[in-house]
This record gives sequence, structure tokens and C-alpha cells, in this order.
Amino acid sequence: MEASAIILAAGEGTRMKSKKPKVAHEVLGKPLVRWVVDAAHEAGMQDVVCVLGHAREQVIPLVEADTQVVFQEQRLGTGDAVNAAREALAGKQGSVVVLSGDSPLITPATLESLVRVREAEDAAVVVLTMVLDEPFGYGRIVRAADGTVERIVEQKDCTAEEAAITECNSGFYCFDVEALFWALSQVSNDNSQGEYYLTDVLEICRNAGRKVISFSTDDPAECGGVNSRIQLAAATKAAQRRINARHMAEGVTMTDPEQVWIGPDVRIERDVEILPMTMLMGSTTVGEDSVIGPNTRLTDTTVGRGCTVDETVAVEAAIDDGATCGPRAYLRPGAHLCEGAKAGTHVEIKKSTVGAGSKVPHLSYIGDATIGTGVNIGAGTITCNYDGANKHKTFIGDDVFVGSDTMLVAPVTVGDRALIGAGSVITKDVSEGALGLGRARQTELPGWADEHRKTQH
Ligand code: UD1
Ligand code: CA
Repeated sequence: MEASAIILAAGEGTRMKSKKPKVAHEVLGKPLVRWVVDAAHEAGMQDVVCVLGHAREQVIPLVEADTQVVFQEQRLGTGDAVNAAREALAGKQGSVVVLSGDSPLITPATLESLVRVREAEDAAVVVLTMVLDEPFGYGRIVRAADGTVERIVEQKDCTAEEAAITECNSGFYCFDVEALFWALSQVSNDNSQGEYYLTDVLEICRNAGRKVISFSTDDPAECGGVNSRIQLAAATKAAQRRINARHMAEGVTMTDPEQVWIGPDVRIERDVEILPMTMLMGSTTVGEDSVIGPNTRLTDTTVGRGCTVDETVAVEAAIDDGATCGPRAYLRPGAHLCEGAKAGTHVEIKKSTVGAGSKVPHLSYIGDATIGTGVNIGAGTITCNYDGANKHKTFIGDDVFVGSDTMLVAPVTVGDRALIGAGSVITKDVSEGALGLGRARQTELPGWADEHRKTQH
């Protein structure tokens, strides 16, 4: 498919009442404009041009990696915004789709249909339309007596008769690129808003004898734009339902999909079970037969097969096959639970590897540590990795047993098969196979307690 895309994202979005530009607001962890850019790429568009303006410095980092960025210096209307992409697409032929950067739910399939229909009909414009019970605010599709699309009239320019039309402009179009830029030169700002309307291109093309047609969607949710926080929540709800339905259709169980939030780029294998109040975000992946939740939030985290991840927060962590987590575990960036390992309850792990089959079952902090295989870390153990100025590393060999309530003062190394007595403060390396003890020696005064009681009251 030979097609380009122009994404309009220069607006401020005043109704968001935000210091952030509207298109940078997120739906399920992904900025609005990224949804649209990704849909354009997925539909196979060769050139994707983003038109930025308001608060551009906040939007550029979101799109510059895989789009061509152009600027609209003054926001003079949607026609002017598209015109800002003129040079970027100079010399192009064929189809160009125009998308709103604030409408995240458009699907690649619909974009492909717009291009296919335009090419098949050799139309100058295909406009995506929808019929709404409450069309207020949208441009209306005015049809000629023969049913063909005559023009689009904006809400603010509508006569009472036009305002009664329920067929609306979604704001998505496919144009013949040459016809588009030719017609844009003819658009004036002689209207109630004093703006250059992209929608005027339709009438101009029709008057020039070119074909102007519509393509309708039976899923208006797909075209839903975000202008307010309420619409942001509505878009999130629609995205949540769409994504969850896709995963369930692919063999994922959800006890209550209304209480599961999954980002658009998350991948989940079959026979995974997702329990309520769970959020899977970013590039998270979950392998077959794992059970995730309840009360779990995973961001950019890899979960292998057959894992149990209960009441866990994990960010940029890796949980290998058969590992278990929680309830109430916190895996921070760089935490890696190898095959069959365990991070139990009230356990925090950062930038550390817990070797295959090793366990950190209760109340521990493990940071900047490498733990071998078959290790047991007793309850309340802490790696003291920070001396107030620098971070230091802890190395624990294979088959080590660390008694409860041990402080491992880094930098420190504990050799294979060593045993650490409970309550130790370990400040020096412990050799392979040795017992490490670092605590006050216990003394006993026989009968002292009984005597002491007699002296009281
Ligand atoms: C537009 C359409 C309307 C349609 C509606 C669908 C026009 C004139 N009207 O109206 O027919 O029903 O979308 O949602 O096109 N933008 C810029 N620069 C500008 C103006 C807008 O980049 O100077 C961007 C906005 O950031 C936004 C998009 O273009 O992403 C649409 O602009 P907006 O002002 O929201 O248009 P509507 O009035 O909603
Ligand atoms: Ca809008």
C-alpha cells in the first residue's frame, strides 16, 4: 500500500485544563499521539508526518523516533495544520490519510479501508463518517439530492436545519495527496471561527469535478476524540474493553475484565489467569499458565511460564519460569528472579539476581546483590548496599543459608555453602563452607529473673 499519514497534534486542548499538551495525556500508559502513530505504522503507511505546535518540546520526544516532525507556527485551523506538512510530502503521489492526534482508538484496519476505498474509486477524498445520537460539536455531512457528499458544515456555522443532521465527520480522511494540497491553497478563513478548515477541501474538490465520498463506521467509539478528562476516561474504558476482549479471545482468563487494565503493547500467552485489580503496562509479557494478581501492577516486566505473581508491584523486572512473587512483593528495576525462585511477602528487590530455586520468603531488602542457586535468605535479611554516599555490591554463592535478621554490609561476599547465623551483622567476607557469625555472644545468669521479680513491688 502506497500511502502517507499526517497526524494533527498542534492543538492545546484547553478543555483538559492541564499544563501538559492534550496529545501527551495517556490512555493505558501510552500517550494519545503514540496510539495514533502506531496505528498509522501498523496500517503500513510509509511516511508519517506529525504536525506539532503547542508545547512541542513535550511532544517531540514522543514521536521523533519514527515520524517526521513539522511545526504549525500559529494555530489557524485544521486546514492550516495539514498545510504545514506540504513540504514534508512534496513530490508524493497517491493516498494520504489525515488523523487527529487526540483520537487514540482508530484501528489500522479502518485506515487501510479508507485507502483501499479511495484507490478503488479514484476519489479525491474519502471521509470517515459516523451517525451519532448527539452530534453536537461535530462537523455535519451535508448530502446533495442524489445522496452524494456535498460538503461538511461545522457546528458553529450550521443552520438549524443542518444542525439536525446526525451524520458526522469523524475527523479521519484519506485524500489524493495532489488534490489535497491543491485544494488547501483555495481554502479561506471566511467562517464563524476565522479558521482555515480542512473540511472545506471536500466542497472545493467536488466543485472541481473530483469524486468526494464517505466511508462509514459502525463503531463510532473508534473515532472518539479526547477533548476533556471525562472523554479521556471514556477512551480508556473503551480501550480497556477492546484489549481485554482480544486477550480473552486468545485464551486468557479474567475473573472480572472490568478490573483489569492492560496496555496496548502487552503480550500474554494462553492459559494465563488474570485476577482482579491488576494493571499490566508498557512492554510487559506474561508466559503460559502464569497466574497474575489480584492487586498487581507490572510495568515493562517479563514474566515466564507457570509463575505466580500475587499482590506484586514490579517495574523493569524479570520473573523467570516457575518463579513466585508476593503477596506484597516489590520488584524494582533490574530485579531478576531466576527459574523457580521466590520473592515472598514484604520483600523488596532492586538490581539483583536471585538464582534458580533460591528463596527470599519474608521481610527482606535485597539491593545490588547477586545470589546463587539454592540459597535460602532468612526472614528480615537486609543487604546494606548504601553507605550514605555510594552503593556497594553483595555476592552470595550457591547453596548458602542466611539466618534470619542478618545485615549483609556491602561490599561483601559469602562463599558457596556458607551458613550465616541468625541476627548477624556481616561486615567481612565469609569463606566457602564456613559458618559466619557476627553477633553478641549470649550469656546466662541462672535464677536471676526469679530473684529480680522478688525485689519488685
Ligand atoms: C474537527 C472537524 C470537524 C470534525 C471533528 C471531529 C474541522 C474544521 N472540523 O473539528 O468537522 O467533526 O474534528 O473530531 O476540521 N489542530 C491543529 N492545528 C489547528 C487546529 C487543530 O493541529 O490549528 C488539530 C488539533 O490538535 C486536533 C485536530 O487538529 O488534534 C482537530 O482539531 P479540533 O480543533 O479539535 O477540531 P474540531 O473543532 O473538533
Ligand atoms: Ca476535536
